[in-house]
Formats: sequence, structure tokens, C-alpha cells
Amino acid sequence: MNIVPNSKIDKTKINHFFIEHWGSPEMVISSGTFQCNELEGFAVLNELEEIIGLVTYKIHGGICEIISLDSLVEKRGIGSLLINKVEKIAQEKDASRVKVITTNDNLNAVNFYQKRGYQIIEVLPNAVDQARKVKPEIPFTADNGIPIRDEIVLQKCLSEDRGIRSDIKYITDDKISRSVFIASKQRLARELS
Ligand SMILES: CC(C)(COP(=O)(O)OP(=O)(O)OC[C@H]1O[C@@H](n2cnc3c(N)ncnc32)[C@H](O)[C@@H]1OP(=O)(O)O)[C@@H](O)C(=O)NCCC(=O)NCCS
Repeated sequence: MNIVPNSKIDKTKINHFFIEHWGSPEMVISSGTFQCNELEGFAVLNELEEIIGLVTYKIHGGICEIISLDSLVEKRGIGSLLINKVEKIAQEKDASRVKVITTNDNLNAVNFYQKRGYQIIEVLPNAVDQARKVKPEIPFTADNGIPIRDEIVLQKCLSEDRGIRSDIKYITDDKISRSVFIASKQRLARELS
């Protein structure tokens, strides 16, 4: 597979790719409105020089954000090749994290990214309603029947620091857990009687 920087590809070809697969090159997400045809990225070309995979990204404030990722020939390693390339560039440019936003319906993408070291760091309920105000053509329902509604923010740390939160406390004392369990059981019994 031939992977090339988008800057080496005819702009109209890239523009056409976005029109065909996303309706327009404009991507509206909570982190901003992006003209994908003007972003840096990489494309995978087949032997006919046709684009069969495309990723775009933006590096800002030490974070590399993947803005779009598309593979037209799935399960052949194209998606992995493209994100590996972006992660390598991010490291070279001293970005400490790679971030990506997808939507709640896109279970395939959520699986794909998590298997490649990305972690869900935020869920933005109803964020797509805001995006639709700017881009009304965003569909309301995905092909799998799930309403397109919320944004899911995933992130991969490129350095060792995984940012483990110390403010999350679990009740680990067995006595407390048992007393909470008994109290809720008693409440349930009262409600049923
Ligand atoms: C998500 C997406 C980019 C993945 O692209 P892809 O080219 O299918 O990705 P890969 O081929 O690298 O990996 C997909 C699976 O195929 C498997 N695979 C790769 N090569 C394979 C091969 N030769 N034979 C069998 N399986 C293979 C991979 O192991 C992977 O499985 P895993 O996730 O269980 O490990 C693609 O599904 C897509 O474009 N979706 C629509 C747009 C989208 O949702 N983009 C992301 C939102 S920003």
C-alpha cells in the first residue's frame, strides 16, 4: 500500500473524497469547524492512484487531534496504518497526546480506537445538536439505527503519564458495603410489602 502526505495529492481529488463520503469537506465537532481538505494528513492510494484511505489531523497546544479517518477497504490494515502514521508525526512534533472525537452511533470506531490504546475521556451528551446548527445535513440516525446524538472524546497518551485521577474514591471497606447492601434490601422489602 502506498501512503502519501495529502500535500502531495491534487486538492480537487481530496475535496471530491470528502464530498462523496461526508457531503462536504467541512467537519463540525465540539473542538471546532474544520475544512478537512485544507488540513495536514495522509492518504492510502491503490494501484490506480485512487484514494482508499484518508486521515486528517491538526496539532495544537501539544495535542494532535485526528479530525477525520476513513478507510474504504476495511479490515486490511489501512485504518491502523493511517493512525500509526499520525501518532509517529505527533511524537516527532512533540505532541504528548492524540485525541479524536467520534459519535455515539459509531461503535466500530469506538472499538477500533480503544483496541489501539485510546481511552474514552469525555462524553458530551447532545453535542451533535449543536453541530447540526452549523451543518444541518448531519443525519439524525445512523445506518445501524442508532440516533446520532452525543460526542465521544477518546485520547491516547504518547508519553508514560496516563493521568490517573486521584479524586475518584471507591468504598472498599467490606463493612460499609455490607451495611449499604442490607439497608437497600430492607428498603426494597418495605416497598414490596
Ligand atoms: C474505523 C475505520 C477507520 C477502520 O479502518 P480499517 O481499515 O478497517 O482498519 P484496520 O483494517 O486497520 O483494522 C480493522 C480490523 O481489521 C483487522 N484486520 C486488519 N488487516 C486484516 C486482514 N488482512 N485480515 C483480517 N483482518 C484484518 C484488524 O485487526 C482490525 O481488527 P481489530 O480492531 O479487532 O484489531 C473504518 O472502519 C472506517 O473508515 N469507518 C468509517 C469512518 C469512521 O468511522 N471513522 C472513524 C471516526 S473518526
